[in-house]
Order: sequence, then structure tokens, then C-alpha cells
Amino acid sequence: MGAFWSQLLPPPPTFTEFNIPALHGRVFIITGGNAGVGFCLAKMLYSAGGCTIYIASRSASRIQSSISEISTTASTPAATPSTLKPLVVDFADLRTIAPAVSEFLAHEQRLDVLWNNAGVAQQPPGSTTAQGYEIHMGTNCLGPFLFTQLLLPLLTKTAQDAPSSSIRVIFTSSQIIDTTGPMGGIRLSEQEAHATHLHTAMQDKNYTYACSKIGNWYLAAELDKRVRAAGVVSVAVNPGNVRTKGWDPVSWDAKLLIAPFLYDPQMGAYTELWAGLAEQVTTSDGGKLGVPWGGRWHPGPRRDLLDGLRRKVDWGSGVAGEFWEWCEVQTRGFAGDEERGD
Ligand SMILES: NC(=O)c1ccc[n+]([C@@H]2O[C@H](COP(=O)([O-])OP(=O)(O)OC[C@H]3O[C@@H](n4cnc5c(N)ncnc54)[C@H](OP(=O)(O)O)[C@@H]3O)[C@@H](O)[C@H]2O)c1
Repeated sequence: MGAFWSQLLPPPPTFTEFNIPALHGRVFIITGGNAGVGFCLAKMLYSAGGCTIYIASRSASRIQSSISEISTTASTPAATPSTLKPLVVDFADLRTIAPAVSEFLAHEQRLDVLWNNAGVAQQPPGSTTAQGYEIHMGTNCLGPFLFTQLLLPLLTKTAQDAPSSSIRVIFTSSQIIDTTGPMGGIRLSEQEAHATHLHTAMQDKNYTYACSKIGNWYLAAELDKRVRAAGVVSVAVNPGNVRTKGWDPVSWDAKLLIAPFLYDPQMGAYTELWAGLAEQVTTSDGGKLGVPWGGRWHPGPRRDLLDGLRRKVDWGSGVAGEFWEWCEVQTRGFAGDEERGD
């Protein structure tokens, strides 16, 4: 079965709540853990016991309701309970990220897995973040990029004494990158702040969402180049097509078309669970793109996107590297260095 159909009609998951290893003392962050796929993932980790799970999202009250819902509808082992904690951060406003990371660092000595799962889709053309970036690119890539960068020192420190390949960063991509978005990956000129309206292609919300999801894979691949030697695994996943509020803004006819291929969000959480915890995933997989429902990698990404992963001196287009550097430049000034005295 080709890459397209095997993501629409995936084989059964190979790693589920029954395969979760002992999590004693481990600390996790799930961005967007108050809803959809992230919520299901948080619930599974809570039930497994022994760990601390931060639900990092933009609304304190929605995080709190999800924590109440998980703790009343799921059980955690009495002898080794898990703890759910809130972390308020708005990925569409770069000013909120350093304070959220400082808040986390004030309470935790380790970070085992960061699931960069939060995201927006199908936002109206012209929508922008607080800093004027196209809303999908800003929320799905720039915010998570900065968040990850600021957490990296703790991730690499944790990796020094942790079992091999157990410290991980997971970025969340989508099947849309196989079908939509610019040839060659990302056109940085289209992504400049306050410039969205200047580009015709950027008026298409599938295009802008796809750019951000290509960006998520590229961020995973570029991060891998920087952290593999320190023992941190960095991969991306397409969680799979699942019924969540992420689909709410889609037109009724598109909803009708996709309906037969939408699954329970728990299935998407299995993909993320596998990427974050399965022993099968190691640093040598860094930069790969997992596909639903986990247990396997994308069998054949688009050639033009693969070219982007290689530098120009290696006969690639170098787009992923250029994208990483662009994210560095755009987020400069939001790292909160002064406050932390770095
Ligand atoms: N559902 C699918 O079929 C599908 C397919 C492929 C890929 N994905 C990807 O999978 C991930 C999870 O999707 P989902 O369907 O579970 O989405 P969802 O149900 O809409 O949940 C998205 C989560 O992200 C949070 N979020 C959104 N904007 C944020 C911001 N500015 N700052 C902080 N948190 C923010 C949301 O918080 P609020 O509750 O406050 O809005 C929510 O917790 C996304 O990255 C999505 O692109 C989903």
C-alpha cells in the first residue's frame, strides 16, 4: 500500500498503553495536552503512574478542566501515582514562552520527553500571531522552536544520566505535507512577519497549514543534527487523521469527504506514545517522520522535501537548515536572557 493510503488506512498500533515501560520519576511536557490527541496521551501517561506530566497550553482554565477530567475519569496507581501539572504558554505570542520555561525550570530538575503536539489548523487566511507571523507558521513552528531551544539545556543534562535514547523531543507533523505546500518545502519570503497578505498562495489555509507541518518535520531533522551526539532523540510524527476540534473550521463538504478516514483521537495518541517511549526508536532514527499508528516510518516522503534536508554542499536544497536559521533570527530577543542572567 502506498504512503498515501497507508496513512489514511493505517495498520493497527504496535505500542499502546499496555506497552508503557516503568515511568518512575520521569518528567514529561505535552503541549496542547488539554484537548484532542494530547489529552489522550496525557491520560495514558497518568494511568501508567510514576511520572509528572505538564500540560502546556494557552488557557489556564481549559488546562485545569482537562486535569480535573483526567483525574476523575482515569485512575493512577496508589503506590506510584502520576501528577498532572499546568503550564500556561501561548505559542502564538513569543513573549509568553521564556516565562513559561522559567516557571517549569523553577520546579523541575529533569525533562524526559517533550511532545510538541499543540497546533492550530484551518485558520482564516490573514490571521497572524502577536508578532505578525502567519498564524499556522507562528503557532506551530516559531513558538515550539523557541520553547524547545529554551528547554534544550535541561534535556541534554537529563540525557547524561538517563538510559540511552530515552530523552526525546517529538514534533507533530501531518499527512498534508505529502499533498500540499510549496515545491521545495518552505518559501521563507512568504513567511516574513506582516507580509502574509503580499503572497497569493498564503491566502489558502491548506497551503499555510502545510507549510507549518513541513516546518515541524524540518525542525525535528535540524534539531537532530544538533542533539544526537548528546544522546537526545529528535523525531517528527504524523499522528494520523483523528476526530478532534482541529477539524471544526473545515467546510461541511470537506468534512463529509474526510469523515470515513477519521479515527478516535486515542489512535493518534498511540503514534505519539510510540515515538516518545518505544525502545524501538533510537537516536539513529533522528530526523525521521513516524506515521500512524506508530511502529513505522514514512515509507517515501516527497523528493523535494527530502532534498531540503540536505545542505547545498551535499547536493540538497538546504531549505531545512535555512528554515532553522530563520527561526533563530525571528525568535531572537524573546529568549529572556536578561531575566535569567545568561
Ligand atoms: N486531528 C488530526 O486529524 C491531525 C492530523 C494531523 C496532524 N495533527 C496535528 O496533531 C496535533 C494535535 O492536534 P489535535 O487534532 O489534537 O488538535 P486540537 O484538538 O485542536 O488540540 C490542539 C491543542 O493545541 C493547543 N493550542 C492551540 N493553539 C495554541 C497556542 N497558541 N498556544 C498553546 N496551545 C495551543 C490547543 O489549546 P486550546 O484547547 O486552548 O485551543 C489544544 O490543546 C496538532 O499539531 C495537529 O496539527 C492532527
